[in-house]
Amino acid sequence: MDLYLDSADLDEIRAARDLGALDGVTTNPSIIAKAGADFHERMAAICELCEGPVSAEVTATEHDAMLEEAEPLVEIGEQIVIKLPCTTDGIRACNSLSSRGVRTNLTLCFQPLQALMAAKAGAFLISPFIGRLDDIGQDGMDLIQQIRTVYDNYGYETQVLAASIRHPMHLVQCALIGADVATVPFKVIEGMMKHPLTDQGLEKFLADWKKRG
Ligand code: G3P
Repeated sequence: MDLYLDSADLDEIRAARDLGALDGVTTNPSIIAKAGADFHERMAAICELCEGPVSAEVTATEHDAMLEEAEPLVEIGEQIVIKLPCTTDGIRACNSLSSRGVRTNLTLCFQPLQALMAAKAGAFLISPFIGRLDDIGQDGMDLIQQIRTVYDNYGYETQVLAASIRHPMHLVQCALIGADVATVPFKVIEGMMKHPLTDQGLEKFLADWKKRG
């Protein structure tokens, strides 16, 4: 399973890269707003640090305006993947961009038929949001399983990118189901390297080492 960092924080991106855990980066308008940086400049800086796919989301909501907004973004670097919402206009824009060879990431996916439409429109990635479904009392992981099954049944090549991941167990479940990619905040990457028995075991090893004759 590929691991993308869901962040526009350059320090976090460098830290994930140094761990060998940076297969790509995803951003969204909330993440860019939080970073407080110029959108295009920050995307260029991220492309300097990441060789894999880097998702840049449009904020336009209509087909033609989405394409206009995508144009300068794809010039930033060959890593750029245009992120579009799973709306009618977003799917149309996906179809237009895919037919020109531009990779897309269809975001805010909450049901398997949106994923089917994204695949038909040639999306490179589909982003089902697990945590936000969990938040409203549905099991977000069911959606990952449903999309995996639909894509496998018919051989769609769109990659399933599990998003809105809140904790390491989400990641374990995604890997067991067979999501192609998971995008995670940096705190989840940190959590992937932690186990209390590792800390206790290390403490004991070092204490024993100090006592040696
Ligand atoms: O990748 C989508 C992600 O940024 C949304 O996460 O935690 O805001 O639902 P969250």
